[in-house]
Amino acid sequence: MLNAKQIFGAALVLSGLGAVALVFHKPTEAAPTRSFTSSQQCKECHPAVFEEWAGSQHAHSWLNPDVRALSNDFANTDCIDCHAPQEIYSTGIGARVLPRTARRAEGVDCIACHALPDGGVAGTTDAPSAPCRPVAMASLRSVDHCAGCHDQHKTVSQWRETKYAQEGIGCVECHMPMRADGSGRDHAMHGGHSLEMVRQATTLFAERVAGGLRVALTNTGAGHHFPTDERSRAADLWWRPLAAAGEPARPWRHLWRFRSPYRHEVDLVDTLLPSDATKEVLVDDLDSRGPVEVALTYKRTPYWKDPLRPDPELEAEFVHRAVVQP
Ligand code: HEC
Ligand code: HEC
Ligand code: HEC
Ligand code: HEC
Ligand code: HEC
Repeated sequence: MLNAKQIFGAALVLSGLGAVALVFHKPTEAAPTRSFTSSQQCKECHPAVFEEWAGSQHAHSWLNPDVRALSNDFANTDCIDCHAPQEIYSTGIGARVLPRTARRAEGVDCIACHALPDGGVAGTTDAPSAPCRPVAMASLRSVDHCAGCHDQHKTVSQWRETKYAQEGIGCVECHMPMRADGSGRDHAMHGGHSLEMVRQATTLFAERVAGGLRVALTNTGAGHHFPTDERSRAADLWWRPLAAAGEPARPWRHLWRFRSPYRHEVDLVDTLLPSDATKEVLVDDLDSRGPVEVALTYKRTPYWKDPLRPDPELEAEFVHRAVVQP
């Protein structure tokens, strides 16, 4: 792991000798050092980025009611580390992050991801005369940047086994697309909280086969397992006979659950769907001979009712839903 000094060294190498000379030998041409104590201060000059971030899960990581419930209001202090982290360029890119004591309500904020040990910020171009003194750093958009917090449940390790890793398509390419106006990358960082994003992850396929129905789900769009990260996330496959017009809807029948268990759930096995993999389930039931409906639902938080048996209409989001005729 790099220590702060090595990282700062790397920053200077990346920023080129010109910038180094400017910072050290002509300090009068650089902006006056301004120290930032809150990400609210960045809003003044970066309002669009701030708005995107303010709507993101990163901005909510300290106040998120699910996190508070599961951590007993952070009485479990282990949970503070990534949910109110210190500046990752100080603890080391890719290294385990450490908890901070100030401005915790700002969660995973601008300062946590951008602030450099010398008081500047990691950016995409050098601008020593700008008030926040950005330095171009390739590590900012590297997978290692995200790994310090996102490999707890092996999302980054999963990514390393995919074709995306070979093609150099990292977390940022999918989770921070370039804005339409080319001004930079979207800081909303959509993931499991965006149904649209969850829809992009998989393709559901259902067809008649001799003696029944074949239902298949392929991970065609996630750069890691589906679902990934937070362990209580789950996705479920369902089917039911389609009711005739005017008849009441028939109950859904459960086919398969994609989920990774908590450590204490010794009776559960890991059924996450790796990138490009397909899970196939055959339905062999007299009721499946007529028109049927198949669906994939997504269960995002640990507090949606579980186990699933009952009615997905009430407790899950429909990701895919299709009718298969006889
Ligand atoms: C300092 C720790 C930290 C770093 C670094 C970090 N994240 Fe996160 N990330 C979090 C936490 C904590 C959450 C969950 C917040 C919550 O929901 O309460 C999160 C949530 C997310 C989500 C939302 C998932 C969902 O359920 O919608 C995405 C996507 C994401 N991060 C992507 C990234 C990417 C891409 C990077 C690297 C550029 C990154 N993160 C860097 C800590 C971090
Ligand atoms: C090593 C970093 C790390 C630590 C430590 C950590 N988390 Fe997280 N947590 C994350 C990241 C990254 C995410 C986002 C991934 C996701 O949402 O799937 C997250 C997401 C969550 C979510 C889902 C929030 C939502 O709305 O989707 C909950 C709940 C949560 N964490 C609870 C906890 C609890 C409780 C602890 C302590 C036992 C804890 N976390 C410790 C990194 C961490
Ligand atoms: C008083 C105005 C001002 C404040 C406050 C400010 N910045 Fe900047 N920032 C600028 C200017 C000017 C630039 C250079 C032009 C540009 O890229 O927007 C810049 C550039 C950047 C860049 C590099 C952009 C790129 O494309 O490489 C990053 C990253 C950045 N700022 C982050 C921050 C963060 C994080 C904060 C709060 C801790 C902050 N800034 C506070 C004015 C400001
Ligand atoms: C989870 C980490 C993370 C957080 C939180 C975060 N950023 Fe960024 N930021 C990045 C990454 C990654 C890039 C893209 C770097 C690249 O393309 O090389 C980036 C790019 C930028 C840029 C360059 C121009 C652009 O829009 O892409 C600016 C300016 C910036 N961030 C400012 C901010 C400000 C201000 C905040 C808080 C409101 C913030 N960032 C929060 C990781 C983060
Ligand atoms: C090829 C595009 C792609 C790449 C690359 C990618 N992701 Fe994702 N990611 C997705 C899609 C699509 C989803 C929504 C489906 C899902 O929830 O799994 C998602 C969901 C997530 C979630 C929400 C958890 C969940 O399953 O609900 C987190 C956290 C996340 N990604 C983090 C990362 C990190 C960290 C990296 C880099 C190692 C990364 N992603 C790389 C496409 C991608």
